Parts: sequence; C-alpha cells; structure tokens
Amino acid sequence: MLKKLSIAALAALSFSAGGAMAAGGAGHIEDINFSFEGPFGKFDQNQLQRGLQVYTEVCSACHGLRYVPLRTLADEGGPHLPEDQVRAYAAQFDIFDPELDDDRPRSPTDHFPESGLAEAPDLSLMAKARAGFHGPQGTGINQLVKGMGGPEYIYSLLTGYTGEEKEEAGTTFYENTAFPGGWIAMAPPLYGEDVEFADGHSNSLHHEAEDMAAFLMWTAEPKMMARQRAGLIGVLFLSLLSVLLYLTNKKLWAPIKGKKLNL
Ligand code: HEC
Repeated sequence: MLKKLSIAALAALSFSAGGAMAAGGAGHIEDINFSFEGPFGKFDQNQLQRGLQVYTEVCSACHGLRYVPLRTLADEGGPHLPEDQVRAYAAQFDIFDPELDDDRPRSPTDHFPESGLAEAPDLSLMAKARAGFHGPQGTGINQLVKGMGGPEYIYSLLTGYTGEEKEEAGTTFYENTAFPGGWIAMAPPLYGEDVEFADGHSNSLHHEAEDMAAFLMWTAEPKMMARQRAGLIGVLFLSLLSVLLYLTNKKLWAPIKGKKLNL
C-alpha cells in the first residue's frame, strides 16, 4: 500500500514539475514572505492599493488586465476601494460601446482595458501562469514548501535587470536574471521612486516591485482567502468525521472483538 502511494506521489510530483517547468524556466528567484502566504494568509489591502497605483501609473501604458472586472476593486479581501472611487477609477478608461456606436467611459461593471502594446502580454493571470520555484533538479519539491512562486517570479523579474542591453533583429533586449533565457524585450519598467504613495510607504524599487507582485497575485486569484478558509473548514470537518467513525467502529465491533472465541 505504502509503495503504491509513494509511486503515485512521485508521479504526481513529476507531473507538477513538468507543468511548472513549461510555464517558467530557471532564473534567479528571490523568496519573499508575502502577507497572503500560509493557511491563514491575507492580502494586505494597503499593499494592493499601492500595487494598483504602480500598475496604473507605469505598467498599464503597455499591459492590460482584460480578465479583471473593475468592480472587484471594491471587494473586501481585495483592494477594498470605496464604491465612488471605483466609479471614478473606471471612468478614466474609455471603451467602445456597440449599442451607442461610440466610445463611452467605463463603468465598474466593465473590465480593465486590454494590453495597448501587442507584444506586452496581458497580466491578469500572470502570477499564476509563471512558477518561481523548480528545484531541486526540476522536481518542483520546493513548491510544496514555498508555493509555486508566481509573485516571487514577478518581483524578481522587476528587480532582476543588470543594466546590460543588446540589439537583435531590430529589437532591444535587456539582460534580466529572473527571465528564462536571460534577455527580455521589456525595458526596466521600475527604477524606484516611480510613484508617490499616498500612505507614505517607501517607494524604493524593492518595495514597488513587492507591491506590484502582490497586486498581480490578487488579480490572478482574487478569492484566495475564501478558498483557504473553505480548505481549512474541510480539513477540520474531515478530522472530526474520522474521530467519529473510529469511535463508531470500536463500538460496533466491541461485542465480537471483546470475546475470546473457543473454537
Ligand atoms: C514600455 C512597455 C512596457 C511597460 C511600461 C511594462 N512592460 Fe512588461 N512587458 C513588455 C513587453 C514588450 C513584454 C514582453 C517581453 C518579452 O517577452 O521578451 C513584457 C513582459 C512582461 C511580463 C512577462 C514576463 C514573462 O515571463 O513572460 C511581466 C510579468 C511584465 N511584463 C510585468 C510588467 C510590470 C509589472 C510592469 C509595470 C511595473 C510592466 N511590465 C511594464 C512591455 C512593458
């Protein structure tokens, strides 16, 4: 039984390692202690608001978040912006309305705009599409302890520029220690002090990148807290059920097991 189980576990591990390897690659990834990690982790509302600001002021020039409804900015457990702020935020972006046959400002029921630059991928699900941890030896076992490492990958990407550039076939590539292959076509988007945070939080490159990574984790998995809570309740419930079943089993077999049979 144990042997069968361990074979199944190994097979599952090598599967997940395969998937993770395909999604990312081996670069240098910094392990960060995010507030949302662990079974009791929570998104930090202020951090998500700062991440939204970095996204809006810097990344949205090229990237989009087409799968994220603007109204979710008001969600509790998310950035939790007041409704009127969400309405005002949404109204900055126009959208073509086929019914009006004209552009109109977005409302909270619309989604974030799509990428404005064709080569810049949509960032909605990026934190789940990339894996930061692959080792040891590509088995992905680190992921059991540290998580998949999507937000760590984004943090490391944003802080991993070495300053080296090269030009190939008319495109400029920038050396980056986190990007698989080492050369990315995105110029360093953040240098530190790119935005001014209303809450006075440090806007060093390291902090901006961390807030950005947390924000993209939220866009990729806005219901993480609810999922973790459901999981925890499930485990507690199953533990209780196991105890009850054990006791029931004991009780049912007591008259037979208790007796010594003289055959
Ligand atoms: C000037 C345009 C531009 C800006 C601004 C920009 N990006 Fe990019 N980004 C790109 C392009 C182009 C690519 C594709 C690069 C490639 O595949 O080589 C990219 C790729 C990415 C990727 C995917 C990397 C991967 O593993 O494939 C991430 C994540 C990313 N950008 C995050 C950000 C964040 C976060 C910001 C804001 C802080 C930002 N970008 C700002 C143009 C931009």
